[in-house]
Amino acid sequence: MGKDTPDYQNIFHWAETQKNGDIPSFKLRRNDPYQYQAGFNNHFESEAIPGTIPHGQNSPRKVRWGLYAEQMTASAFVAPRHLNKRSWLYRVKPAVAHDGFSDLPDNPDTESCFLPINPRVHLSATQLAWLPLNIPKSDKVDFIDGLKTIAGSGDPTLREGLAIHMYLANSSMMNRAFVNSDGDFLICPQQGSLDITTEFGKLFVQPGEICVIQRGQKFSVDLPDGPSRGYIQEIWGSNYELPELGPLGANGLANARDFLHPVAHFEVKEERWKVVYKLGGKLFECAQGHCPFDVVAWHGNYVPYKYDLTKFVNVGSISVDHIDPSIFCVLTAKSRDPAAPLADFLIFSPRWDVASHTYRPPYFHRNVASEFMGLLYGQYGGRSDAFQPGGCSFECGMVPHGVAYEEYQAASSQRPPEMRISPASIAFMFESSRAFTITDFAWKSDKLHQHDPTMWRFEDNLSKHKVEIEEILKAKRDAEEATGANGH
Ligand SMILES: [Fe+2]
Repeated sequence: MGKDTPDYQNIFHWAETQKNGDIPSFKLRRNDPYQYQAGFNNHFESEAIPGTIPHGQNSPRKVRWGLYAEQMTASAFVAPRHLNKRSWLYRVKPAVAHDGFSDLPDNPDTESCFLPINPRVHLSATQLAWLPLNIPKSDKVDFIDGLKTIAGSGDPTLREGLAIHMYLANSSMMNRAFVNSDGDFLICPQQGSLDITTEFGKLFVQPGEICVIQRGQKFSVDLPDGPSRGYIQEIWGSNYELPELGPLGANGLANARDFLHPVAHFEVKEERWKVVYKLGGKLFECAQGHCPFDVVAWHGNYVPYKYDLTKFVNVGSISVDHIDPSIFCVLTAKSRDPAAPLADFLIFSPRWDVASHTYRPPYFHRNVASEFMGLLYGQYGGRSDAFQPGGCSFECGMVPHGVAYEEYQAASSQRPPEMRISPASIAFMFESSRAFTITDFAWKSDKLHQHDPTMWRFEDNLSKHKVEIEEILKAKRDAEEATGANGH
């Protein structure tokens, strides 16, 4: 499984797989073994045994098959309807059936407090970049043990902030489940597929797809393709939602119907399991004598999901200039500032670039956002550094950036063709209104490198026109004196 990923990597868009209607339309990658329910923020329901979900009430005196009803509430009880999230799980044993919690040793390569008073985090006023981190070859390292935190903001106990991690894993989680009590994980596999079992069912996530597993939802990750690497954006305090479309109207960007949620799947196994909880960045563990993925049926609107990035409907300028990069937003999460998101997930994937009379590389810019980029596959133009799949780059807010002088020269002297850009590649950006700090792990990594400032030795073109400009300015002064326009 997962071996035909390059076919999907080399397409321009998902639409290409549909062969112009000559074949029956299909919504899943051919090697995806699971079934899903489509939509976004719906109230879904699924039952692995038909007739299990109680109707007209959630918590009957007796649930069919003697199952236990358990509600998972993810918003304040009184949160307004559009933000109110909960699911009802009908399971073989309730989650509380375990043998008690114990502390786990800290993973020194992870971090959760990004406040500058923490001596383990660092501020960078300049751009930073990392070559791909190595996936360990020796020892068994699973998805949890292989977490490495690169950057973040805030602290999960404050219920506002985020962390950016990478996972470097070579082993499936064997009878081990994970619960993130801090926040939501947006997971972007870069190498190797993830076969994820959740309490709600199964998700198969390949490079080019993403998944979101939310706060409190138990999951376990298997690696069907072997050694795996990927990126995670973790958010605290809100959930991901689709960005508003404004003047675009009802369709475009990531369409709600392309988000896929699992169907109920359960296992009844009397065997030893360990469930690892992350709370305030600390790890805790509880053992239990039965499989935690024993939910026979569920309903609700708090459900993990996945999305195929090749289905993203890019929009852009069809006359001149670039539109601001917010048009590349797949998912966004609110902060407490009504005018600035906590976290945006943007992608730069194959699309047409047709704007005329336009400087085509990203214009030189500074902005309030923290920009953290990664590359899932292919090549990404418009960056000045050695940017490889599995690598990362970071710019904090108001740090000026843009392409190297040679690239500027080429772009401003050549008439650009109407062309497809970013072929066979997906780069992404974790963007935030929050200032990031960099972890000890990333700060001291031998993969960290800085940009060579010589690439930005720009020529002063204005001074070449000194005589001409002085004549213009002299003529302006003369005209002002003649009319008294300068106030004298
Ligand atoms: Fe930027």
